[in-house]
Amino acid sequence: MSFWDRHKIFEKNSIILIIGIVVVISIGGLVEIGPLFYLKSTIEKVDGVRPYTPLELAGRNVYIREGCYLCHSQMIRPLRDEVERYGHFSLAAESMYDHPFQWGSKRTGPDLARVGGKYSDDWHVTHLKNPRAIVPQSVMPNYAFLAKNEVNSSNIAEHLRTNRLVGVPYTDEQIASATEDMKAQVDPDSPGAAELMKRYPKAVVRNFDGKDGNPTEMDALIAYLQMLGTLVDFKLYDAKANLR
Ligand code: HEC
Repeated sequence: MSFWDRHKIFEKNSIILIIGIVVVISIGGLVEIGPLFYLKSTIEKVDGVRPYTPLELAGRNVYIREGCYLCHSQMIRPLRDEVERYGHFSLAAESMYDHPFQWGSKRTGPDLARVGGKYSDDWHVTHLKNPRAIVPQSVMPNYAFLAKNEVNSSNIAEHLRTNRLVGVPYTDEQIASATEDMKAQVDPDSPGAAELMKRYPKAVVRNFDGKDGNPTEMDALIAYLQMLGTLVDFKLYDAKANLR
């Protein structure tokens, strides 16, 4: 039987043709996807990126619970208009500790990947309580109740532990001190604040909502917003990239 006669078997029988197509596509898939499971890392390491502090992680949970991602993305694409508006394009490493990631797919409001440090804590409190106090045409909902809710500190260590299960390198020490670290981050004068800074470099320690007492969900959310996009020093990063 010549090659063409054998090929006719495929041409004349659609089921055999479909099986043939599946086999060929699977080989392509294996070649492309297989190696990703054996590479040690598919994300380039970038200096400065660290796991979230317990308070930031709690704020991130509030962000997810309230569905902020439905209106806000957290990924700046490497396109000129985006980079001019929001800053340096996002690096894969910047969301390597995000489970789940918050890239989003809708921008009713602006991208938030680099909102950290853009506004004061006071601005955020006013804006979150009533966005129209700052932008009269805003369609963003009011989140005033966050200032009244104390953030749940009893299960934060479990959140860190769960993140470790999916690959975030939290240490035993960080998990053991999660509850104290969470309270220390809103109390710059407490002895715990220095400890927290040692465990989480570049952590911002402030009384975010301006109220004394246990941290509120407002504290947690603002702690999270204020660190977004602030971990990587892009002067150093770009200098290194140019050397390569
Ligand atoms: C219904 C859509 C919607 C939802 C949900 C929403 N926002 Fe917004 N957000 C907007 C819009 C529109 C703006 C721009 C106008 C303004 O500043 O209010 C905005 C602006 C912002 C800004 C200012 C960004 C900048 O660079 O000026 C921040 C910060 C922000 N939102 C945080 C949040 C957080 C945190 C949540 C969840 C608790 C949230 N938003 C939920 C629509 C939304």
